[in-house]
Amino acid sequence: MQLSALSTLNYRNLAPDTLTFPAGVTGVFGENGAGKTNLLEAAYLALTGLTDVTRLEQLVQSGEKEAYVRADVQQGGSLSIQEVGLGRGRRQLKVDGVRVRAGDLPRGSAVWIRPEDSELVFGPPAGRRAYLDALLSRLSARYGQQLARYERTVSQRNAALRAGEDWAMHVWDEALVGLGTDIMLFRRRALTRLSELAAEANAGLGSRKPLGLTLQESTAPETYGADLKGRRAEELARGATVTGPHRDDLVLRLGDFPASEYASRGEGRTVALALRRAELELLAERFGEKPVLLIDDFSAELDPGRRLFLLDLAASVPQAVVTGTERVPGSALTLRAHAGRFTPEGERAAVGALEVTA
Ligand SMILES: Nc1ncnc2c1ncn2[C@@H]1O[C@H](COP(=O)(O)OP(=O)(O)OP(=O)(O)O)[C@@H](O)[C@H]1O
Ligand SMILES: [Mg+2]
Repeated sequence: MQLSALSTLNYRNLAPDTLTFPAGVTGVFGENGAGKTNLLEAAYLALTGLTDVTRLEQLVQSGEKEAYVRADVQQGGSLSIQEVGLGRGRRQLKVDGVRVRAGDLPRGSAVWIRPEDSELVFGPPAGRRAYLDALLSRLSARYGQQLARYERTVSQRNAALRAGEDWAMHVWDEALVGLGTDIMLFRRRALTRLSELAAEANAGLGSRKPLGLTLQESTAPETYGADLKGRRAEELARGATVTGPHRDDLVLRLGDFPASEYASRGEGRTVALALRRAELELLAERFGEKPVLLIDDFSAELDPGRRLFLLDLAASVPQAVVTGTERVPGSALTLRAHAGRFTPEGERAAVGALEVTA
């Protein structure tokens, strides 16, 4: 998978432009607030269609009504054009000029690694569930559909609980058990390979403490129906569904302890990196092609050895875009970021900076 070109219009602080990317590592460096993260976010959106849909307005440049990103994507020897239009809470996707739904874009096209990933380790279980659910939805469209149905059922069931509709609960329970069981079984199957890959990646990062992933389930497929019945009174009192895969956690153990409570900042970022690396490998196994790797702020919180690992990882995939406040070593192309513009080193900066030549 390769991103040949990225065009943006009215996207956050990015100046309208088309940037071309070679194979190998493109390093993007510049001062805080230059637009480096925005560039990676735009690339991830154009490649995968994925973004936080509750914050679409923020992506549009202030003072503008609509924004647009386009990726020219090289995949298995053929080129396709992926376009995303954004405006007033809407997101419109096209592939080669034809309107498509979000799930129709290639699901294994990019992995985004960023400092905020540490939240996966130190934050609440919801973040780890979101990581797992997003990854499994990309590996299997069916998982995504079942999860959406399950989540809808939970909120309808909660409404029935709040309304005290005890008599209707057996119907909701049946729906919930069917969908929830599917989700638990899928997660269990995927976790075997995911934990192998994450443990390998963690060791490869130079971590001496082994990383273990386990699911902490609030119930099990065999007992789900009975567990729901057993907690009926509590659920009616609270007006909420208190058991099921929406309450599970992906527990990360580093050595003898849960990473969320014992890991140092850098160790936490390393565990998060291992999870992203595992994501990359799983997507590559599933789709037969390595995703484009987007790495934001490669040096944040990492010691020199781990930075090197990250740069090695970038060099090991067909294409990576890596940002930092300093130059990124080993880049095939270096872009200097300044005020939403990106100038290839060796070329003159486009606007009012005649002295900026390398
Ligand atoms: N919708 C928007 N319209 C205009 N500007 C925006 C919009 N959203 C964000 N910005 C601005 O984009 C700028 C660049 O943000 P970005 O996060 O990409 O910087 P960065 O280069 O990654 O910086 P850092 O090195 O601190 O991570 C910020 O100053 C922010 O205020
Ligand atoms: Mg940034």
